[in-house]
Amino acid sequence: MSEKDLSALDAQAIQRQTQCPVVIFDSVTSTNTVAKEYAAKGCPNGTAVLARNQSAGRGRRGRSFFSDADGIYLSVILRPNEAFSNISLITPAAAVAVCDAIYETAAVDCRIKWVNDLFLRGKKICGILTEAVTDAKSGVIDSVVVGIGINFCGDESALPAEIRSVAGFLFEKNPTISKNALAAAIVNCLTNRLAAADFAAFVPDYRRRCFILGKEIEFVQGGKTVHATAVDIDENCGLKVLLEDGSSTVLRTGEISVRPAD
Ligand code: BTN
Repeated sequence: MSEKDLSALDAQAIQRQTQCPVVIFDSVTSTNTVAKEYAAKGCPNGTAVLARNQSAGRGRRGRSFFSDADGIYLSVILRPNEAFSNISLITPAAAVAVCDAIYETAAVDCRIKWVNDLFLRGKKICGILTEAVTDAKSGVIDSVVVGIGINFCGDESALPAEIRSVAGFLFEKNPTISKNALAAAIVNCLTNRLAAADFAAFVPDYRRRCFILGKEIEFVQGGKTVHATAVDIDENCGLKVLLEDGSSTVLRTGEISVRPAD
């Protein structure tokens, strides 16, 4: 297949490999926004919304997500079963599912930077934004939309200058798989992980892939920069850290950066 064919998105090709509904748009503001609208209308578990371009791709913490490179912009509607109570575990489970999908299809081993960034060759190649959809009447969480943005193929020059030093691509050139195959594998890995009898079984895989353990990190707390060592991932995917005064704490959300070695 030519590079152009590998980059072409095709709903039927994805649907054949997933048995889940797939919708592809040329351009939307954000696939998460569209998927949330679909979810509110009752679309089933596993419905996948993709776009070739996003005019207002969203990242975590109100940031924008650059969506103009050769990327996969995919949002999956998930309807956790009743027994599933811990919504906050969906994001780290999704990070493992995307790593699994990339490994299964392309034999490429990505690493996770807590909480949910995927790294390859020291650069972020994928970000994940999970958003809950609540029932307008009851206020109860009805479904969850997991939005995944992957820089598929390209080189640094395709990225805006401000993210060039931190962002990279799954393939720098000559992709070995199609976007359709990868998107289908992501939907399958994600829905399988969610349906697993022991949902939390993904945590050891998360820990194994998390590259920050043992590293010097920093994070902002109460307006101050705190230095610490990342020690472990607990059973809820919290990050156990050792502070400079010898005490320990567990970070539940937020963002850390790895400090460069001296
Ligand atoms: C992050 O790195 O902060 C998360 C980025 C998530 C980007 C994806 S692209 C598909 C979906 N649609 C969006 O607007 N955001 C997510």
